[in-house]
Amino acid sequence: MQILPLEPDHEAALHAFLAEFDAAGEAVIPAYFAPRDMPIEQIVEEHRAEEAGERSAPMVPASTRFAIGDDGAVLGVYNARHVLNDRLRVFGGHVGYSVRPSARGRGVATQLLRHAIDLLRGLGTASILVTCDPTNDASARVIERCGGVLKDRGYSDEHGHEICRYWIG
Ligand SMILES: CC(C)(COP(=O)(O)OP(=O)(O)OC[C@H]1O[C@@H](n2cnc3c(N)ncnc32)[C@H](O)[C@@H]1OP(=O)(O)O)[C@@H](O)C(=O)NCCC(=O)NCCS
Repeated sequence: MQILPLEPDHEAALHAFLAEFDAAGEAVIPAYFAPRDMPIEQIVEEHRAEEAGERSAPMVPASTRFAIGDDGAVLGVYNARHVLNDRLRVFGGHVGYSVRPSARGRGVATQLLRHAIDLLRGLGTASILVTCDPTNDASARVIERCGGVLKDRGYSDEHGHEICRYWIG
């Protein structure tokens, strides 16, 4: 498995990745923000601009990377925010990630979060915030395995439920 930025060559694999979430009834894919019908060249450009910090506030610079299997399949995605804003401090934190349903339980999310941690450390981030829905046991396991420590549970007005906040480092 490799963890890479998206490229135009990944078009068919990306469509298969998205179709699997749709078939599973998972309309929202945490860390993947492009509309389903956006052309891949535009998605690649959006990712470049986001990483270069060319988006206006409240958007912060962020890096998106994809887990690509040895057969070329897109298995998962993460979005690592280079800095926090007030909203991300409450919900979202530095890193979000998703793994396609058929690839779960094989450690893909753990590898994605480890990669994101390395990327953020390389940018000088000392403490990394990862938030998680209290019912998302799989994500909590991933965060804890990457060294996350639950510091508090707070209420997210925006989402209408509690949120767990883990800090790494
Ligand atoms: C959460 C998610 C990213 C995990 O991806 P993954 O690749 O399956 O994660 P990993 O294989 O690295 O680790 C999952 C761990 O959770 C455990 N797990 C899985 N489902 C679980 C459940 N229902 N209850 C408890 N633990 C569970 C697995 O056993 C594994 O731990 P282990 O290796 O110690 O056995 C994936 O389920 C997903 O994409 N969910 C939808 C999007 C989402 O919730 N993203 C996170 C929000 S930021």
